[in-house]
Amino acid sequence: MKVTVVGGGFVGMTCAQRLAEQEVAENIVLIDVIEGRPQGIALDLNQAAAVEGYQAVVTGTNDAADTHGSDLFIMTAGMPRKPGMDRSDLLEVNGNIINTVAAYIKEGSPNAKVIVVSNPLDTMVYLMSQALGFETKRVVGMAGVLDSARMAFFISEANGGGIKDVRCMVLGGHGDSMVPLPQFSTMDGVSIQATLPGDEIDAINHRTQHGGAEIVNLLKTGSAFYAPSAAAVAMAKSILRNERRLLPCAAYLDGQYGLEGIYMGVPCVLGSNGVEHIVDLELDDAGREKLNASAVAIRADIETLKTKGLL
Ligand code: LAC
Repeated sequence: MKVTVVGGGFVGMTCAQRLAEQEVAENIVLIDVIEGRPQGIALDLNQAAAVEGYQAVVTGTNDAADTHGSDLFIMTAGMPRKPGMDRSDLLEVNGNIINTVAAYIKEGSPNAKVIVVSNPLDTMVYLMSQALGFETKRVVGMAGVLDSARMAFFISEANGGGIKDVRCMVLGGHGDSMVPLPQFSTMDGVSIQATLPGDEIDAINHRTQHGGAEIVNLLKTGSAFYAPSAAAVAMAKSILRNERRLLPCAAYLDGQYGLEGIYMGVPCVLGSNGVEHIVDLELDDAGREKLNASAVAIRADIETLKTKGLL
């Protein structure tokens, strides 16, 4: 197995670390445009293997040819938000980076699956998919696992612990219009609506929707990376090991949830073919309206990409 992580920022370097430590692939490539950075991170990770005892070799590079023949890419490259910025403010700068990376994936790894992490997520994964021209199920976006992890932590805090047993479902776009679904969130199968009062659940939903910005504002420079890399690597494992986990991911919609022609966060079974299938949940009217609003926001970003000539 060969996995390439694109981007040697905090998300990319922690992805490479998790992939190596969990021995997800024996051959891990970390590519970045900054000379020396991916090489330095790779050397450090390879030396850590002597202590941690993992069997994986990390290659740091600035040369796209070193990524050729990869089974999977995790695309993290791009600018993070600064305090006060919306994820959509990154459309142009990150859109250009996606197109550059798509060109070498298409050339050198025509059978790869691709997990996109760069923001604004739902638009960047759409752009990647369009630029690659691969079957849409081989290109998927990471956001729902992260947003659900945030919600799970807030629920465990409200319950005084128990995070291992919390399972959450957050759908829709990875932005303020994301849709936390407490009715599909449980403590080991027990609905959280049975353990927490409605106003606490409302506060948790709100904090989840703004969970990325909360960290951006605290850090001042950069954005979250531990939970984002954990989420991306969980998806990578489900694909590479054919675990067929049910995970909320940004997938290409072809009529599911009454939507088509966009990528958006929905429950997906991830296996060796990528998105094996999408689970079309029965939502109430309020839930459907929120998903539709999320879709409107994503379509607006796609239009902006077209206006700027990136798509
Ligand atoms: C966040 C960024 C990765 O939500 O979008 O932290």
